[in-house]
Amino acid sequence: MKFSSQVRFVEKWILLTLIAIFWLLTTQVSLANPDYYAQAGSNQQNISQDIYLRNCSSCHIPLPAQILPTESWQKILNSSQNHYGVALPTSVKVSANFIWIYLKNNSRPSVVGETLPKYVSNSRYLKALHPNVQLPKPANHNSCQSCHPLAQQLDYFNVGEL
Ligand code: HEC
Ligand code: HEC
Repeated sequence: MKFSSQVRFVEKWILLTLIAIFWLLTTQVSLANPDYYAQAGSNQQNISQDIYLRNCSSCHIPLPAQILPTESWQKILNSSQNHYGVALPTSVKVSANFIWIYLKNNSRPSVVGETLPKYVSNSRYLKALHPNVQLPKPANHNSCQSCHPLAQQLDYFNVGEL
């Protein structure tokens, strides 16, 4: 390679790197802007699910939205100061809107008059999602992984050895 073409080669890579940095910066900025989510359609779903995963998977496996009625999730999010006896970190409050989008879009409302389940084991959706499955007793967040090996990634579609 001649010196001049080497320079052009280096210039090209510098330019590409700058474009990449610019792209990263602009997408990061738009991630902080809620309007971006409003326009993003199904992207919004992926992003809110990702934010749910980040915020709700550190102390126990991330529980899937389908497992509790929408109103139960609403109560859980509204009582972040006393979450089953512990206080949730501030980051959960900051991300609450996105966590809510994931939970709301993927759960079903309760039936009128139904006592809202606080625990998965009291939820009729747990039974509805497992019509022919012999679930352990009690079936709580500790037992999901025995059959859903990828539960930590919020993947409940994969079912391991039974
Ligand atoms: C700081 C730790 C912590 C974080 C973060 C956390 N939880 Fe929990 N969560 C707990 C504890 C402790 C329990 C009670 C576990 C038990 O009784 O075995 C619990 C229980 C639950 C249960 C009931 C589980 C069952 O087996 O029925 C649900 C539902 C739940 N959390 C949802 C969430 C959601 C949604 C988030 C994110 C917004 C979240 N948690 C984040 C600590 C946490
Ligand atoms: C004994 C094994 C077993 C346990 C324990 C178990 N599951 Fe499942 N789960 C299954 C099987 C098998 C299916 C598929 C059922 C079907 O399609 O009829 C399933 C399906 C599901 C689905 C639907 C997945 C989809 O995308 O179609 C969800 C959500 C789910 N389980 C969540 C949970 C949660 C949350 C827990 C823990 C509280 C749990 N499961 C515990 C075996 C289990």
